Amino acid sequence: MMNEAYHVPVMLRECIEALAIKRDGIYVDVTFGGGGHSSAILDRLGPEGRLYAFDQDPDALRNTIPDERFVLIHQNFRFLRNNLRLQGVREVDGILADLGVSSHQFDNAGRGFSIRFDAALDMRMDQAGALDAKQVLNSYTEAELHRIFGMYGELHNARTLAKTIVTARVLRPIETVEQLKAVVEKLVPRGKANKYYAQLFQALRIEVNGELTALEEFLEQCVPALRSGGRLAVMSYHSLEDRLVKNFMAKGKFKGEVEKDFYGNEIKPFQVVSRKAVTASPEEIAANPRARSAKLRVAERI
Ligand SMILES: C[S@@+](CC[C@H](N)C(=O)[O-])C[C@H]1O[C@@H](n2cnc3c(N)ncnc32)[C@H](O)[C@@H]1O
Repeated sequence: MMNEAYHVPVMLRECIEALAIKRDGIYVDVTFGGGGHSSAILDRLGPEGRLYAFDQDPDALRNTIPDERFVLIHQNFRFLRNNLRLQGVREVDGILADLGVSSHQFDNAGRGFSIRFDAALDMRMDQAGALDAKQVLNSYTEAELHRIFGMYGELHNARTLAKTIVTARVLRPIETVEQLKAVVEKLVPRGKANKYYAQLFQALRIEVNGELTALEEFLEQCVPALRSGGRLAVMSYHSLEDRLVKNFMAKGKFKGEVEKDFYGNEIKPFQVVSRKAVTASPEEIAANPRARSAKLRVAERI
């Protein structure tokens, strides 16, 4: 059963349509969370169909679905292929990724993902991870912090922000959400505090969880893992992720042009199914504001 208190699935119908599910197919949901998308996939599979799901957060394992066609793997999706191989699976018919954090992670005061609660600056999706947000803030150089805030948070005053943090932490390490807010308070544009903090927290979260590297490694493995005609559906919530997904689906790589063979024919692993990203309906956004920034991209393995 899906656990709606844990996370309300975004664009459920659109994701299921994107996968064009075959009853006897093998599918992978690499971001299990509350199991909303997984449950809907299982509903469309026949007795021979199979679903493998991944989540790196031990909390998500509580939502596992008792169904003999289903296997939940407690791993980072950057290890997709090895884990499928361990399950005896070489190729699959569809892969779904619903990136980022779940509502459970975001709304859980102790995890440090949200500016709404004072907590230790943790932000690890996988509590076994070596790096947390405290370490990033207190041990990274000013130049590294500048890069993270600029690239991952798209903050305009990233350089000043990095300098302010490095200066403040000499007096006292920055360990909690409230301490961080107190340190950066004077840099926050008036009337835009929520947006500013959201971007700052996003930058830290992406760094702590190595989100962009994991996404790149995952996308590259989707090429050999999907059989011809297999579908890849990826839902992202910020522009950095969406750009990676869009480029990879269009060109089979993250930068540069599509490769060509000797005769000038394009060699690309995917055919894009929807040229424009699919977004949530106004009704869904009204009911679930977290659907607002979601962009779904779909491609078919050639
Ligand atoms: C947006 S939620 C997915 C919600 C899910 N689709 C549902 O309907 O409940 C993202 C989930 O993916 C997990 N996750 C994010 N990045 C991951 C990664 N690199 N490897 C494994 N799990 C990851 C998070 O722990 C979180 O539970």
